[in-house]
Amino acid sequence: MTESTAAPTKVVLRTDELVAGYLPGVNILNGASIDVHEGELIGIIGPNGAGKSTLLKAIFGQVGIRGGGVYLQGEEITSLKADKLVTKGVGMVPQNNNVFPTLTIQENLEMGLFQRPKAFEERFDFVVQLFPELAKRRAQRAGSLSGGERQMVAMSRALMMDPSVLLLDEPSAGLSPVRQDETFLRIAQINRAGVSVLMVEQNARRCLQICDRGYVLDQGRDAYTGTGRELLDDPKVTELYLGTLAKDVDAERAAAKRPELD
Ligand SMILES: Nc1ncnc2c1ncn2[C@@H]1O[C@H](COP(=O)(O)OP(=O)(O)OP(=O)(O)O)[C@@H](O)[C@H]1O
Ligand SMILES: [Mg+2]
Repeated sequence: MTESTAAPTKVVLRTDELVAGYLPGVNILNGASIDVHEGELIGIIGPNGAGKSTLLKAIFGQVGIRGGGVYLQGEEITSLKADKLVTKGVGMVPQNNNVFPTLTIQENLEMGLFQRPKAFEERFDFVVQLFPELAKRRAQRAGSLSGGERQMVAMSRALMMDPSVLLLDEPSAGLSPVRQDETFLRIAQINRAGVSVLMVEQNARRCLQICDRGYVLDQGRDAYTGTGRELLDDPKVTELYLGTLAKDVDAERAAAKRPELD
């Protein structure tokens, strides 16, 4: 979906001026409005503590909502509990503790489908097309997998319920650069298979490179939005949120090469 210019029409998920927090009197989200259209891959970036995870948790009914609302395909789902949201088509992969380590891969996937056990083989076939390695290893305990493999099991588990939108909290965190690349590729594949995705990422540049549109969340508000490319090219976004390190390194390399060329 990257570089897509066709305007998608149907809004799958929307948060409207969401206000939410944990402690009385302290709001972490201060009016966050984002929307995910059908088929889109949306990235949320922003500094540590901006409220990115809180936004996903608020959508998924895990943080008290104090204002605004959450809508799934036009239907209000504000403050519904996670099990209800899963039935309605919201899939969530939290950053941590997202697999059951003592269970096998298959058992983890069965847990993902606890509300529709009869559909297992059909959904398993879908998931295995995206993650073929899982089929061969379905009897292996999730606790013995690498971080990247666990992330794949966690995403697969959420996909078992055939979600219309998948929420991912920092899917590349803690992975080696090679595994990060692989994870981003898989997410793009999941999206191409028809699943709308809302992804929070620390790895902001990489996230913006693959997403259709992005939002910069700062102090609990959506500070900037645009296509991934627009945000990458926006000097303010670069300066405030992406850092100038990559450009500096490029400039240094170019300067270092110049004497050889002369
Ligand atoms: N369970 C909690 N109880 C109280 N405050 C919390 C809780 N969880 C998060 N916070 C606070 O909410 C704020 C936003 O946290 P959040 O985890 O949403 O940020 P984030 O943007 O995901 O940051 P990071 O990039 O570090 O993951 C932080 O100031 C944090 O201390
Ligand atoms: Mg977070």
